[in-house]
Amino acid sequence: MTSEPTTALTAETGLAALATENRRFEPPADLAANANVKADVYDAASTDRLAFWEEQARRLQWEKPWTTALDWEPPFAKWFVGGELNVAVNCVDRHVAAGNGDRVAIHWEGEPEGDRRSITYTELQADVCRAANALTELGVEAGDRVMIYLPMIPEAVVAMLACARIGAPHSVVFGGFSAQALTDRITDADARLVITSDGGYRRGAAAALKPAVDEAADRCPSVQKVLVVRRTGQDVAWNDERDVWWHDVVDRQPDVHEARSFDSEQPLFLLYTSGTTGKPKGILHTSGGYLTQTSWSHNAVFDLKPETDVYWCTADIGWVTGHSYVVYGPLANGATQVMYEGTPDAGGKDRWWSIVERYGVSLLYTAPTAIRTFMKWGDELPAAHDLSTLRVLGSVGEPINPEAWIWYRRVIGGDRCPIVDTWWQTETGAMMIAPLPGVTSTKPGSAMGPLPGISVDVVNGEGTSVGEVGGGYLTLDEPWPAMLRGIWNDEERYRETYWSKFPGRYFAGDGAKWDDDHVLWLLGRVDDVMNVSGHRISTTEVESALVSHPSVAEAAVVGAADPTTGQAIVAFVTPKGSVADDVSSGDAFAQELRNHVAKEIGPIAKPRQILITPELPKTRSGKIMRRLLRDVAEHRELGDVTTLADPTVVNAINDKMGSSSSAED
Ligand code: PRX
Repeated sequence: MTSEPTTALTAETGLAALATENRRFEPPADLAANANVKADVYDAASTDRLAFWEEQARRLQWEKPWTTALDWEPPFAKWFVGGELNVAVNCVDRHVAAGNGDRVAIHWEGEPEGDRRSITYTELQADVCRAANALTELGVEAGDRVMIYLPMIPEAVVAMLACARIGAPHSVVFGGFSAQALTDRITDADARLVITSDGGYRRGAAAALKPAVDEAADRCPSVQKVLVVRRTGQDVAWNDERDVWWHDVVDRQPDVHEARSFDSEQPLFLLYTSGTTGKPKGILHTSGGYLTQTSWSHNAVFDLKPETDVYWCTADIGWVTGHSYVVYGPLANGATQVMYEGTPDAGGKDRWWSIVERYGVSLLYTAPTAIRTFMKWGDELPAAHDLSTLRVLGSVGEPINPEAWIWYRRVIGGDRCPIVDTWWQTETGAMMIAPLPGVTSTKPGSAMGPLPGISVDVVNGEGTSVGEVGGGYLTLDEPWPAMLRGIWNDEERYRETYWSKFPGRYFAGDGAKWDDDHVLWLLGRVDDVMNVSGHRISTTEVESALVSHPSVAEAAVVGAADPTTGQAIVAFVTPKGSVADDVSSGDAFAQELRNHVAKEIGPIAKPRQILITPELPKTRSGKIMRRLLRDVAEHRELGDVTTLADPTVVNAINDKMGSSSSAED
């Protein structure tokens, strides 16, 4: 389902800001002079796109060369056909073999102050080998799916790489998802092993993770073993038949492991993400093309110098950014990086800036929501730290408003660091639209244009290109190496979701606009997917969770603009007749429903606001008018109500909205 009002609104906001900030920021001269990629890369890539990607694939270590760069039978692509490689060897072993074993791969910082570990590539190699041996001992074979439900601890990276090493696709589930969400994903992936921990640290306290896994594993007969990392030392329930401690099984393994090579198209991971309808879909990524594009883009867009840079991507490994730009891209490039377990305000609201100072972070990659939060907290906090090591600042996950862009550049980047706003998706696997820090003169709030080797087209509703200037739907009209290879177990849904709206083109679900200078502006989702703090949540999924509550008759969910989180979840709920009277006060019931959503999906999907209403606005044919509800939620003038079966309903909701307050955690 698509609708346009959100796009129009964002477009207006974005372009109004553009009018006041229509200035360009040139790359710093020294960065431009020493940049890993120069302006000629665009010409090279457009002259021969496949040759360009083959050149980037050669940055990796292949055990067997490919015979064909691309086999494209729309909408199915195979990249580097016939080639063989081992992803984990590329991310770890080859750096040790090249003499860089003493380089730190990960500076890990736990949430409790002082909880730190630095791991060299040699140590990481031993850890990954031990874990790979342990997985094999536990019966995991190439092709088996392994679920990972872990906090941001080094074992998470080790577990992912160990899976990659033995050719067992992993599926990481963000720790903020509930037992139910985990169950759905384990069932769909038919996973035989779950790797988890007793818990992790969040907001100054130990939070549990294993109980959710216990609940899910009890319901999923495919799960034979649960491998448990001891992170917090909290008490956990134990099932002797199923549970094994990481320190019992992994630590005693040999620290060498003979890695075999896999086909370029060997599945590397499944990552579940929300769509417009139904349950989350398992996005399938494979090996050679994915690693080629993640490592190339990481090298080019951050201008990574592995010998001297310290890189920090703040994303959790439960999201695609954590996969591509914490694990695979940076490690394939032999980078030194920071990994942090906790929340930005743990131990003080300047925690991030003390981390940047301590490790001398030079490349920082984060989300606009975080930047806007820091803006609110004030300039004094970063100003109290030495941030002079920073040289490139990245943004991802949601449109960045020009004000936040400018603040990021000025306050965090000392007015010298280029900002790289990077647009991509779980499905694209790697960055698609972004400036190059040594090449592009940037406009605040814009991701500028497609990266070399990527082909983007903005089209109107009929699928006709809008040309060099104009707005519409963002499509990708050529396959790219890191593209999803499908939806797990659902070929039809893959075709339908991405390739049917504009035949022959990949439809991203985003609105976009070329401005008068042919610079690209991303305008947010045009479908029923919300983007809350850079997290993708579907309106229908939250609606399903709400109506699964026994007292709810009907629910409609919309994403409303929010100054910090980009969008916030607002739900309109009609209770069942029998309880409608009891719950007229609403507050306690709304809280119960928010907790219910947390249980069904996870705390990240809790609505900011729930409005209890005896009726929802519907057309005469019975369709809920979400557009009007979005107007209500965003306190806008109500649009056309003439098609409503009962126009008074929406006015009543509007009045109620005006007098209600948000229930925020
Ligand atoms: O709407 C776009 C938005 O995030 C969506 C993809 O979400 P997800 O698959 O969770 O991946 C997020 C991290 C790559 C997109 O459809 N999005 C992502 N990056 C940007 C963005 N919107 C505007 N600007 C961006 N830089």
